[in-house]
Amino acid sequence: MKGIILAGGTGSRLYPLTKVTNKHLLPVYDKPMIFYPLQTLLDAGINEIMIVSGKGHVGHFLELLGSGSIGVYGLLMRYRIRPGVLPRLWGWLMMRVAVVLGDNIFQDDGSEAVQAFEVGGHIFLKKVEDDCRFGVAQIEGGGVVSIEEKPEEPKSDLAVTGLYLYDNGVFEIIRRLKPSGRGELEITDVNNEYIRLGEMSYSLLEGYWSDAWTFESLLRAGVMVERNMQDV
Ligand code: DAU
Repeated sequence: MKGIILAGGTGSRLYPLTKVTNKHLLPVYDKPMIFYPLQTLLDAGINEIMIVSGKGHVGHFLELLGSGSIGVYGLLMRYRIRPGVLPRLWGWLMMRVAVVLGDNIFQDDGSEAVQAFEVGGHIFLKKVEDDCRFGVAQIEGGGVVSIEEKPEEPKSDLAVTGLYLYDNGVFEIIRRLKPSGRGELEITDVNNEYIRLGEMSYSLLEGYWSDAWTFESLLRAGVMVERNMQDV
């Protein structure tokens, strides 16, 4: 299985922190944000990883993560800036893939689910209090029956976290997707398509989890990491 870290976007909700660099390079306690999703994939046994970002701050990623095999964790890091990246991505990924949102910080690494994963899609759910901020999963009869993105009246307290496992059918699903009201292709639409096909499974996360795209959640993520370090 290969890994993809999605680290795009303008980070406008964290302005001015993101005025001169990418959101995923901001500090979360003692490390740049992107180190956490990177570590999650490595802990799950995935060591071929692609980071997808805009061209705005690619030099910062290069400086931080290095290139060739001298990058952090001995990973082989390569960078390309050119149009037509999507067809190349497709060629690279005609197999199962773990996708992690670059602003998600996990204690669990999902390695059991990663080892067991074969077909369809798999999502990782976490019980939360502020569920209106997330995709929320509805479970019935032991299966996921729907995901609603940022619902006003959530049908459960189970947030869909930003770690997803997909078989290679995901690329066909993405090809057929239509942009949402905000003009973007939504990961929740991908997941709902797997649900419609009856091919979505899920796990519940036990450990802490946070995203980090608001000032509050960025702070909370740092505190969570720091507290956990003191516990061990
Ligand atoms: O954090 C978990 C939540 O992430 C889920 O509960 C939601 O279902 C999911 O839609 C997502 O919600 P957000 O509102 O946080 O999504 P956003 O579009 O802001 O993307 C989150 C991060 O992933 C952000 O750091 C940018 C990166 N990203 C995301 C997508 C979908 C990309 O770089 N490219 C993408 O195509």
